[in-house]
Amino acid sequence: MNVLVTGGAGFIGSNFVLSMLSKHPSYRIVNVDKLTYAGNLENLREAEGNPRYTFVKADICDRQTMDEVIREHAIEAIVNIAAESHVDRSIVGAAEFVETNVGGTTVLLDAAREFKIKRFLQVSTDEVYGSLGPEGKFTEYTPLHPNSPYAASKAAADLLVLAYQHTHGVPALITRCSNNYGPFQFPEKLIPLMIANALQNKPLPVYGDGLNVRDWLHVADHCAALDAVLHRGKEGTVYNIGGSNEKTNLEVIRLILRQLGKPESLITFVKDRPGHDRRYAIDSSRIQSELGWRPAVTFEEGLSATVRWYLEHRTWWERIISGEYKEYYRKMYEER
Ligand code: NAD
Ligand code: DAU
Repeated sequence: MNVLVTGGAGFIGSNFVLSMLSKHPSYRIVNVDKLTYAGNLENLREAEGNPRYTFVKADICDRQTMDEVIREHAIEAIVNIAAESHVDRSIVGAAEFVETNVGGTTVLLDAAREFKIKRFLQVSTDEVYGSLGPEGKFTEYTPLHPNSPYAASKAAADLLVLAYQHTHGVPALITRCSNNYGPFQFPEKLIPLMIANALQNKPLPVYGDGLNVRDWLHVADHCAALDAVLHRGKEGTVYNIGGSNEKTNLEVIRLILRQLGKPESLITFVKDRPGHDRRYAIDSSRIQSELGWRPAVTFEEGLSATVRWYLEHRTWWERIISGEYKEYYRKMYEER
């Protein structure tokens, strides 16, 4: 199969591209990424030189280029991972979120329709469901109630995907996953930010009371779920993906500090995120019973491996913090 992966230079995208290349030795993967601040080609060093892998620097909002890529590479499936993904940034300004997450998804859906793409997988998020109280979990039937501009843009995209499937017969599916962690996560998100700050003996900014709950899943488990849905999911269906692994932010931060041997005095309570969702928890029984997927990595193993990864890849995140990572692909283009 020839698969177009969008956003393949980001956190989940790069993990997904690498896992697809290794799990499916006959597949060709084309990675389209605009290389925003969150895109980092260093994540894909392992794929460089692989004849089954092609990188195209492009914006998913650019219909002409998307058509060219699909035609030139005889694309059969699209996995749309590209997005503006950080809630805090969407609070500062929502326009780019609407452009990429809603506009870009619509461009890809139109292209999928025209080129009769066989599978269209929209990678979405549990944040479209809003926030939970102390009890209950999100199922695929939970009404959409997005609270942040980011979540609203992802919910809008989900509705378009379902509408294109229903109206135009685009063979689309949606996944809604909980919080991911693991290698190559940009150090603006909770876990890598706390690791990087702790390693630099900087304060760890905890929003509000630190008791907001997230349901953590290792990115390798997310990629395995995406693979299962891409190949075996039922068209027009939404699949929730989660780790059944709820933790408060303070619990996660304390585990990181313990593993790094750093003092809890680094924890600094700061002003809360506006509109901060209190709790997410995913009921993933549909994907488990229909597709046989289940998480393989426990949070204890996964977090400790992730902390080790950031320790062993200090240059990777230091180059992001200093801005040097953008030099990597600037040089790469100059050398071509
Ligand atoms: P990320 O911010 O690390 O990566 C996003 C990637 O998309 C970057 O490489 C960026 O350059 C690219 N991109 C952005 N705008 C683009 C555009 N217009 N055209 C082409 N490429 C563009 O994000 P992530 O954390 O890897 O999340 C990826 C997807 O997974 C998002 O759709 C997000 O909603 C979803 N998701 C993330 C999580 C999580 O915990 N990180 C959980 C569930 C779902
Ligand atoms: O649930 C899936 C979502 O998870 C994805 O759709 C998003 O793309 C992804 O960014 C993530 O969203 P969150 O807002 O849950 O992740 P973030 O890492 O930004 O924050 C996790 C929790 O930690 C949240 O309760 C806010 C808190 N936090 C975060 C940061 C960055 C802090 O207390 N301090 C911080 O500095």
